[in-house]
Amino acid sequence: MPKVELRHQKVFDAKRFFEILNSPNFTYFTAKPKTIEDEKVILRQNFKKQCANLEHNFTILYDGAIVGACGFKIDQHRPHIGEIGYFVDETHWGKGIAPEAVKLLEQIGFGKLGLVRIEIWMNPLNKASERVAIKSGYLKEGVMKKAQKNGDVYTDEILYAKVI
Ligand SMILES: CC(C)(COP(=O)(O)OP(=O)(O)OC[C@H]1O[C@@H](n2cnc3c(N)ncnc32)[C@H](O)[C@@H]1OP(=O)(O)O)[C@@H](O)C(=O)NCCC(=O)NCCS
Repeated sequence: MPKVELRHQKVFDAKRFFEILNSPNFTYFTAKPKTIEDEKVILRQNFKKQCANLEHNFTILYDGAIVGACGFKIDQHRPHIGEIGYFVDETHWGKGIAPEAVKLLEQIGFGKLGLVRIEIWMNPLNKASERVAIKSGYLKEGVMKKAQKNGDVYTDEILYAKVI
């Protein structure tokens, strides 16, 4: 069984992230870099964001190869709450990589980062992401009306959470 591992992101990961994120099937993932250089700029901010406890981001390795990324955004008003985000290369969908990454993230979140509550938000149409939350043991707490803003459009988000 190939192993899923997390490691801190490197600027070197930009090319793979750019390719994965610009796949036409990434319908519900809005953070698409326009160029590899744009992605490098984002990756260079990681260390600062980590030191400021804003975000903690990781690269997902599957059998040693880069297949995606995941991480926490820390609620700046309630720093005991972290929101998980994830994406996986579409050629590896359906192998249970994201739930495995969530399991590893939880160890970091509830352990090292001292979180007490972890949330996963998703677009109501993003059934694959909802399955990841359910399979990872998160409980649905409701639908947050107009929680997301894309340009001038407000959309609903489903909220899943796990607490310790
Ligand atoms: C959501 C995502 C991370 C799931 O990753 P994954 O490693 O494939 O997760 P899983 O293997 O557990 O599969 C989860 C669900 O995806 C769906 N799925 C599986 N294979 C699929 C495929 N080839 N095509 C489309 N959906 C598929 C299934 O509904 C599956 O649930 P099931 O196991 O109950 O059948 C991945 O689909 C992805 O990167 N999507 C685009 C980015 C995104 O939406 N991120 C989340 C934002 S909230």
